[in-house]
Amino acid sequence: MINIAILGFGVVGSGTAEVLTENKKIIEERLGCEYNIKYILDLRDFPDSPFSSLITHDFKDILDDPEVSVVAEMMGGSHPAYDFTKACLEAGKNVVTSNKEVVSTFGVELCEIARKNGVRYLFEASVGGGIPVIRPMINDLSSNKINKISGILNGTTNYILTSMKNEGASFDDALLCAQKLGYAEANPSADVDGIDAARKIVILAALASGKLIDPRAIPTVGITKITLADTEMAKEFGCTIKLIGYSEIVDGKLCAFVSPRFVPTTNPLSRIDDVFNGILINANMVGDVMFYGPGAGKLPTASAVVADIIDIIANIDSEVKPIVWETASESDINNFSEYSCPRVFIFNCKANIPASLSKYEIKESGNNICGIMTDSITENEADTIAAEFGNNNLISVYRVL
Ligand code: HSE
Repeated sequence: MINIAILGFGVVGSGTAEVLTENKKIIEERLGCEYNIKYILDLRDFPDSPFSSLITHDFKDILDDPEVSVVAEMMGGSHPAYDFTKACLEAGKNVVTSNKEVVSTFGVELCEIARKNGVRYLFEASVGGGIPVIRPMINDLSSNKINKISGILNGTTNYILTSMKNEGASFDDALLCAQKLGYAEANPSADVDGIDAARKIVILAALASGKLIDPRAIPTVGITKITLADTEMAKEFGCTIKLIGYSEIVDGKLCAFVSPRFVPTTNPLSRIDDVFNGILINANMVGDVMFYGPGAGKLPTASAVVADIIDIIANIDSEVKPIVWETASESDINNFSEYSCPRVFIFNCKANIPASLSKYEIKESGNNICGIMTDSITENEADTIAAEFGNNNLISVYRVL
């Protein structure tokens, strides 16, 4: 009998209890062993929940119970989630999590503590909600060198952008819906300002390179400044605007950032709508592979959490190769100003166009708003052109994927 404890009985924590209970019979048959949810830690009581008798308010009940061998942390936030995770790993308990904040910030240390203590720290649910992407990257792409990752990594923002594009919904109404559906973070700034996507792209980049970049150090722009005029201009250029987490190895160095981008409709990421996420990986042997599915939500995310629990139980008596990451140093990271891709400049049609743009076709999307898509140019070159427009005439600049 394997005893499991759940830390946090919010959206994903309660979903995990539900998946473990609803599918108990088939999971136990597949595993060939039985499991039991022994504790659920939360500050609140849930008198109407079928799991109310399992609630404890004291973490020590779990930490000090030698029968608990698997802990599922779904508290969200860094503290006390990090502290509880560390304590469990040091006490010889396996930990699984959906907490991308903790994995992206403390992943190097927690993976090392797990390795030292002969237990596992797994985080399939931390990226892409219910999409299997982390285990496939570790196992199925292990014969490859991963060159490039581009992903729609945040369900809330993709839901908002889709509602704005297809239904003309306002930003605030769409965000409210995403919150009601249980997609958004407790503080939705993490979603709409791109912070959640930054955490996820550094986790994926670490799986590809072994080096974890501080998510707060990567260039990050969210979706709050996207206007209807930008969306219209994207259509003119045969593109859709998506919030993209991007990582690439450039001359042996890591480049990672998050920003809204014009995604050409020929790219499959352009067609990923609503709460769905898509992760497109280019690797040197397989070529392009794409992972697609629900990027947030109670049961999809819980499905990924339970997949990690099953992995741990199935291998509880085996030695499994640990995840070993290093903290990325400054010399591992590229000079972002040299990052190069095509851009779209959106500007008032009355503007004097900088000479370097004169060779490009101008498109007009109505209301005196014009746009030019360039060939590949660097961040520095894009900044120079933006300065030449002058503030009053330049409306926005987008990177193109
Ligand atoms: N708030 C996150 C999202 C939840 O919308 O993608 C899943 O990580």
